[in-house]
Amino acid sequence: MPGFEHFGKEERKHVNDVLETGILMRYGFDDPRKGIWKAKELEKEICQTFGCQYAQLVSSGTAALTAALSALGVGYGDEVIIPAFTFVASFEAVISVGAIPVLVDIDQTLTLDPQAVKKAITKKTKCIMPVHMCGSMADMDALIKICREHKLLLLEDACQSIGGTFKGKFLGTIGDAGTFSFDFVKTITCAEGGVVMTNNEDVYTKTDGLSDHGHDHKGSDRGADLHPFIGYNYRISELHAAVGLAQIKKLNDFLKLQRNNHHELKQILSQVSEITFRRIPDPSGDSCTFISWFLPTEQFTRALVNEMKIQGILGGNFYWFDNNWHYIRKWDHLKKATTLHALHPDLRQAITQQAGKDFSDSDAIMSRCISTAISLNWTKDQLREKGMKIVAAVNKVLSGQKAAMQ
Ligand SMILES: Cc1ncc(COP(=O)(O)O)c(C=O)c1O
Repeated sequence: MPGFEHFGKEERKHVNDVLETGILMRYGFDDPRKGIWKAKELEKEICQTFGCQYAQLVSSGTAALTAALSALGVGYGDEVIIPAFTFVASFEAVISVGAIPVLVDIDQTLTLDPQAVKKAITKKTKCIMPVHMCGSMADMDALIKICREHKLLLLEDACQSIGGTFKGKFLGTIGDAGTFSFDFVKTITCAEGGVVMTNNEDVYTKTDGLSDHGHDHKGSDRGADLHPFIGYNYRISELHAAVGLAQIKKLNDFLKLQRNNHHELKQILSQVSEITFRRIPDPSGDSCTFISWFLPTEQFTRALVNEMKIQGILGGNFYWFDNNWHYIRKWDHLKKATTLHALHPDLRQAITQQAGKDFSDSDAIMSRCISTAISLNWTKDQLREKGMKIVAAVNKVLSGQKAAMQ
């Protein structure tokens, strides 16, 4: 997820435009800003690039999820179905609007298993939140069908899949709302930032107000704005938006490089018959930030991770099963509902119920999965060397394991 790899004069130019006016805030100060509105301009670019009607920039992907949930009317007592493999922001956002995160198994797509989603639906379910992890997509046809049948909202967390598509539509623009993160390690970055995308004017108007203390933004005098509801400050700054404006213009180049490097690495890894790959519901829409691959058993995968560590080639390869950010196994703070502020006892109880759930189907997938981050900067030789070293390590571990079994 490498936007920062190609940071250059374009980003500096947009940031300097803002520095020259000295107006670092996205709202107000109409005269001194001399026509420089970077956040507004970036929102327009987002709508044009991804084909959505509305885009509301905010301060992070987490803020985008929180604002979107709130604007969709998800709150106290509602259940939101999310995958067991995601980023902590998914349940943070759900809990922050007072709703209940219901974690369910993933399948070989590395995101929501539609069968597990169906089983988790109750009278309280209000929203399904697929998380398009590691550059690629959830099984959107199946999830859209479930949402229609059960009259549920669909909120896409596309924070990790900027530029990915499903059947010709950009991820994040398909559901009732969708989000991107523009944090430092995303496909395009603002340093910190996020966006809510939607085709629903009401959802947009609400995210617009919510992210700026409930301001209705109807006039040019902030002091005279009305506050139809209570909001927060999730505003993005002009400096951050300026960086994003330069980056979005490079997105197509990033995606081309990513897809090319992904393709080459996949060819190399495919030499090993024991390696299999993640299921991609629409392969042409993979944004290719990562290549995610599986080995036959957990034991073998752990042996490989160990071998790669010894050889000093593990960097850029992620064994999420042991990672504290991305998988339920390590989320004790969630399982114990450890918060700094008091939670409603019903919410606390509902959250702690996640601890007793059986995620063995997800374990069986995640314990065998490695995701390799795709760099924009690899030369052909570096890519080949990297791939061949992984293949050699896999073969070494494989022959060691076979010998041990004889
Ligand atoms: C899937 C997913 N959702 C949400 C977020 C939150 O984004 P941010 O870091 O901008 O708050 C991230 C960040 O890594 C993410 O990976």
